Amino acid sequence: MHHILDPGPALLAEAPVEVIEYPKERTLSEEAIRGAVEAQGCQGILSQVMDPLRQTVLSTPGLRIVSNVAVGFDNIDLDAATRHGVMATNTPGVLTDTTADFAFTLMMAAARRVAEGDRFVRAGRFNGWAIDMLLGQDVWGATLGLVGVGRIGGAVARRARAFDMRIIYTDEVPLPPETERQLGATQVGLPTLLREADFISLHVPLTAQTRHLIGSEQLAQMKPTAVLVNTSRGPVVDEAALAEALRRKVIFAAGLDVFEREPEIHPDLIGLDNIVLAPHIASGSVRTRSEMSALAVRNLLAGLGGERPPNLLNPEVLDRVAG
Ligand code: DGY
Repeated sequence: MHHILDPGPALLAEAPVEVIEYPKERTLSEEAIRGAVEAQGCQGILSQVMDPLRQTVLSTPGLRIVSNVAVGFDNIDLDAATRHGVMATNTPGVLTDTTADFAFTLMMAAARRVAEGDRFVRAGRFNGWAIDMLLGQDVWGATLGLVGVGRIGGAVARRARAFDMRIIYTDEVPLPPETERQLGATQVGLPTLLREADFISLHVPLTAQTRHLIGSEQLAQMKPTAVLVNTSRGPVVDEAALAEALRRKVIFAAGLDVFEREPEIHPDLIGLDNIVLAPHIASGSVRTRSEMSALAVRNLLAGLGGERPPNLLNPEVLDRVAG
């Protein structure tokens, strides 16, 4: 495991397990992780989003569970886990509101040019109030387009209601009519959402279908005043296309918490003023990261103890293990 937050370590200390920390200096390649897991005879891995857990790792003899300290699990090859009889778990629920807060933070920061204003002041360029200084876009009363309206997208919608926003969304599965009514949200197709939304916030998992869901073609359909926010997974957005669209002012601004090749940032994004960049911290509040740590440990201990982990992602593995 990597370092986790209280009360995770205490829960592990109380359990009949031996805990081995993954050396900080060791690379996070599949081969290196497998080497460590095999050498120590580990039965469980407490993993994080930067750990690639695919065939090479998941086929390690004796491995029984990988417990991801994250709701997203695109770093785990679920099919390979199931094939090799390894349970996989994640930490849904506990980070929903914290992540939605941050998506909203990015929306507002990008729309109202907060990071740019901060740089402006620090550079000693604020020489007095001016009627046209750093003008942004209004969030209140604008149209919010949610691409994906699961737990986090829904929580963003609840915040948007307080800002009198019109809410439209796309999702493979429509919300139940009662939820649509409560959120004041209307399902539309992606082209309509791209055309009508003032703010577009991405809340889809990374899959083969969602990789580069937003590229130059989609950016060209957005309003020139639109703001794009991504707190889901970096590869959902084609970063080179986004950089080009921001440079040419095809859209107004963007806020990214996630990147295509973390921790690398596309060099063309760095020099742009109309983008707010955050280092994958949307779930990063003290309380939430601690709850994620605890939930991941509970999942791990349940699996190692022969129980069904509360957040099992591949329940079909249980038949395999039993059979
Ligand atoms: C997740 O949980 O998937 C985030 O990206 C990390 O908190």
